[in-house]
Amino acid sequence: MQIGIDRLGMYSPHFFVDLKDLAEARGVDPNKFIIGIGQSEQAVAPSSEDVVTMGANAAAEFIDDIDTSKVGLVILGTETGIDASKSGAVIIQRLLGLPEWVRTYEIKQACYGGTAGLMTARDYVAAHPDKTALVIAADIARYGLNSGGEVTQGAGAVAMLISANPAIMTINDDSVFMSRDIMDFWRPVYTDLALAKGKYSTEQYIKFFDDVWARYQQQTGLTLDDFAAVNFHLPYTKMGLKAFWTALPEVSEDKQTALLDAYQESTVYSRRIGNIYTGSLYLGLVSLLENDGHVQAGDRLGMFSYGSGAVGEFFSGELQEGFARFLHADAHREYLDSRQRLSVAEYERVFNNKVPYSADDYSADPQYLSGRYVLTGVENQERQYEERPE
Ligand code: HMG
Repeated sequence: MQIGIDRLGMYSPHFFVDLKDLAEARGVDPNKFIIGIGQSEQAVAPSSEDVVTMGANAAAEFIDDIDTSKVGLVILGTETGIDASKSGAVIIQRLLGLPEWVRTYEIKQACYGGTAGLMTARDYVAAHPDKTALVIAADIARYGLNSGGEVTQGAGAVAMLISANPAIMTINDDSVFMSRDIMDFWRPVYTDLALAKGKYSTEQYIKFFDDVWARYQQQTGLTLDDFAAVNFHLPYTKMGLKAFWTALPEVSEDKQTALLDAYQESTVYSRRIGNIYTGSLYLGLVSLLENDGHVQAGDRLGMFSYGSGAVGEFFSGELQEGFARFLHADAHREYLDSRQRLSVAEYERVFNNKVPYSADDYSADPQYLSGRYVLTGVENQERQYEERPE
C-alpha cells in the first residue's frame, strides 16, 4: 500500500519586514542578508497569531474539501507551543470543527517535530488504511532584536493530510535517521527567544546531512542520480545549499545544474517567509511543487529533515499523477505579494508587543488581525481564539 501526502496547505502572517531595510537599520551590507544568508523578506507574526491560529489557517486551505469523519489522528509538531501542558492541537481540532473521535496531541523535537508527526501519521495509516491523519507543523522563530539570529527569524505553518493512495506524494519506507545529544540550538522555558551557537549549528546540520545521506545510499543503493530534486530543512536558504554542496560532486555537471535549479525553486517561499522551524522542510516542498516547471509525476524527491539538539532524517517520496491539481500556486503567490511591509520601527513594535509571560489579561492589537483564525487575547489565563468572517 502506498501512503503519503494527500493534501498540503500553508500559511504565513500578513506582515513582513524587508531584509534590505533591516540590514540598513542594523548597519550591515544588505548583500550579507540577501546573498550570504539567502533571505529577502521575513514574516512577522503579530501577537494575534500563534502556532494554533497559523496551524488552523494552513489546514483551512483544504479542510472543507476532505472527509473529516475519516481523520483519526491530529498531530501538531511545534517548538513554540502556547502551553507547557495542554497541546495546541486540541484547540486546532475544535477551531476546524473536526469530530471528537480523534487522537490529538502535540510533539516536540526542535525543527524535526514536523517530520516526527509525518512519520507517526504514516505508521498510523499503515495500521488503519481507511483512516487519515492531519499533521500540522507550525512555528514562530524568534531570536531577538539585534541578535545574531535575527536575520533567520520567520513565522508560518504547513498542514498535511496523510492517507493511503495519496494525491500528491507517497512517503517511501526508506527513512534513515540519526539522533545525538548536542547543544547547537535550544530555548530554555523562561524565554520566547531561542539560543543558538550559530557556526556550530551550521556545522552540525552539515554533519548530520553527510552522515544520514551516506547511510541512506548504503542502505538503498540509490544515488543523487535517482532524484529529481532534494528538499532541505531551511533555517535560511543558504543553509541547505551548504549541505547539498558536499554531495553534489557525486554526479555529472548537468545533473548538478538540474538539482541546483530545483533547489532554487524549493527556496522561493522560504526566502520570503524565513525559518518556520518544524514546517520549513515542507514549505520547501510546497515551494518546489508550485514554482518548478520541471518536476513531474513519477519523480523521486529527497527530503532532509534536521532538528537541532539533534535529529536528522533522510527519506524519499514519489510524486503522484495529477498532483498539481491539489496545489494553490496562484493563491500563495498573490497572498505573499499582498502582505503588508512593515518599517523596521513597526516590526520592532510588533515584535515587542507579545502575550506576557505572566497571569495578566491581554488584548491583541486589533490593527494587526489577519487570517481566518486569530488570538484576540488572554482572559483569566485562558487564550481566546476566534474565527473571523472571510
Ligand atoms: P553570522 O555570523 O551573522 O553570519 O551568522 P556570517 O558572518 O557567518 O555570514 C553568513 C554568510 O554571509 C557567510 O557566507 C558570509 O561570507 C556571507 P558562508 O561562509 O556561510 O557561505 N557574507 C556576505 N555575502 C555577500 N555579501 C556580503 C557578505 N557578508 C557576509 N557583504 C548564522 C549567521 C546563520 C549563524 C546566524 O544568523 C544564526 O546564528 N542563526 C540561527 C541559527 C541557525 O539558523 N542555524 C542553522 C543550522 S541549525 C538548524 O537548522 C536548526 C534550526 O532551524 C532550529 C531547530 O532545529 O529548531 C535553527
